[in-house]
Amino acid sequence: MAKKTFLTDVRTLRKRAREHIQQGAVTKGYKAKRETVLKLLNEALATEIVCVLRYKRHYFMASGIHAQSVAAEFLQHANEEQGHADEIAQRIVQLRGAPNLSPEGMLSRSHSEYVEGENLLGMIKEDLVAERVAIDSYREMIEYVGTNDPTTRRMLEGILATEEEHAEDLSTLLAELDK
Ligand SMILES: [Fe+2]
Ligand SMILES: [Fe+2]
Repeated sequence: MAKKTFLTDVRTLRKRAREHIQQGAVTKGYKAKRETVLKLLNEALATEIVCVLRYKRHYFMASGIHAQSVAAEFLQHANEEQGHADEIAQRIVQLRGAPNLSPEGMLSRSHSEYVEGENLLGMIKEDLVAERVAIDSYREMIEYVGTNDPTTRRMLEGILATEEEHAEDLSTLLAELDK
């Protein structure tokens, strides 16, 4: 009796690849629910953009004796959130979707909030809250995607790791300012 193999044979793979060429990177073997993944990614995109805007506001408004080092941190985070937004938008296009960058409704699509904060300490606290929201929502997205879309999952895992670093940076700043 022939051994049963779990791999699809080459001829079937080649045939499938030719069938829906206009779908680019999305093949028949794509297991996730594309519409749902696109919706989640567009929410993550809005979250990242809102975070960019909040960090930029904090960067320009930082004042006081500790302002310089904290502002530098805000700017670095703003740039990294922009990087996340770009990665996510790129992946949305790869999945045959369209990145929703419309300012209208951006805040309601976003998981994180845009809070200006009254002073340096208030800004750091708000940013830490937003990072913690992002951490939970990325973790949930990763769980949802599971093994159905490894590329999206890998991207989300990379972003999650950076959000955790951001949260750690902010709680270190908080502890230092509290001294
Ligand atoms: Fe981010
Ligand atoms: Fe972050």
